[in-house]
Amino acid sequence: MPDQPTLRQVLNGHTGQVSLDPKLVFLIEDIATACRTIGSRLRDAAFEGAHGLAGNTNVQGEDQKKLDLIADDIMQRSCATSPALAALVSEEREDPHWFKTPEAGDYLLYCDPLDGSSNIDVNLSVGSIFSVCGVDRDGDRQLLKPGTAQCCAGYAIYGPAMMLVLSVGTGVLGFSCDYDTGEFRLTHARMSIPEETSEFAINASRQRFWDAPIRRYVDECLAGQEGPRGRDFNMRWTASMVADVHRILMRGGVFMYPADADNRARGGKLRLLYEANPMAYLIEQAGGAATGGQDRILTISPQSHHQRVPVILGSSAEVARLAEYHAG
Ligand code: AHG
Ligand code: MN
Ligand code: MN
Repeated sequence: MPDQPTLRQVLNGHTGQVSLDPKLVFLIEDIATACRTIGSRLRDAAFEGAHGLAGNTNVQGEDQKKLDLIADDIMQRSCATSPALAALVSEEREDPHWFKTPEAGDYLLYCDPLDGSSNIDVNLSVGSIFSVCGVDRDGDRQLLKPGTAQCCAGYAIYGPAMMLVLSVGTGVLGFSCDYDTGEFRLTHARMSIPEETSEFAINASRQRFWDAPIRRYVDECLAGQEGPRGRDFNMRWTASMVADVHRILMRGGVFMYPADADNRARGGKLRLLYEANPMAYLIEQAGGAATGGQDRILTISPQSHHQRVPVILGSSAEVARLAEYHAG
């Protein structure tokens, strides 16, 4: 039986790493329950005929997979009775879902119930991303908060081991699922990103659309030891943001999904409230940086629930270099 502290013990302050409002503890535990349930539905999907498309598109015009809808439903049902949850914004729902009046709840949850869902049918790592902010007491409009308003952000990764990685503003904690009991236990007490890196992640099939700063950065990395960087770089792209960000939290690197000539009219690819903001929060809490090019992601004022933004995040020296190329 593993002896690492459980998620509940850590959230309740037993390890001295966090001190939280008990209602937020309930909500995080409900999110963890949702993630455990989603993980087990993913494991059983082939037996349940749950692979493949649902036959609908979401508000962003993307085909929904059956498992996107299953994960969304699990997240909503697991958190519906959380004592202080006022509303949920989900990638899979056009409109926010209010569980209570804003006056009655203390917290707002933003989530990408299943991230990287194009990887499911090929059995690669996928995840669930979540972000929590406190309620402002004046209605629906106040769901649109900058990332600096987050009091908790994290993700679950469904990989060879299921993990829950989260921050409540005091560093980044990684918990691994103990499958015997279903409990998450603290296995990664302080996740931090090295300042420098020699690994980058970008979908290189979009090269023809890139702006000059991204082209320059990637060209310089590819030139390796003989180029201006004076060292060789490695490249990885999982097409699952959770998996790519998890790798960066474990061993450094830089992740880019920039605005380009093809996606600029839509704002970029990744969604601000439930992809860019929570990941930027975790990356900063781990000592890294996150920008849309020149501006810090966490200070962007959202204009709509499903707004997309360019994302560059990871090791701080590399993100600073990319910001400098954009400024130039
Ligand atoms: P989602 O599955 O929630 O729609 O998100 C997919 C995202 C993200 O996980 C990943 O980084 C990116 O889309 C992959 O995009 P490409 O298919 O363009 O590589
Ligand atoms: Mn996603
Ligand atoms: Mn998704």
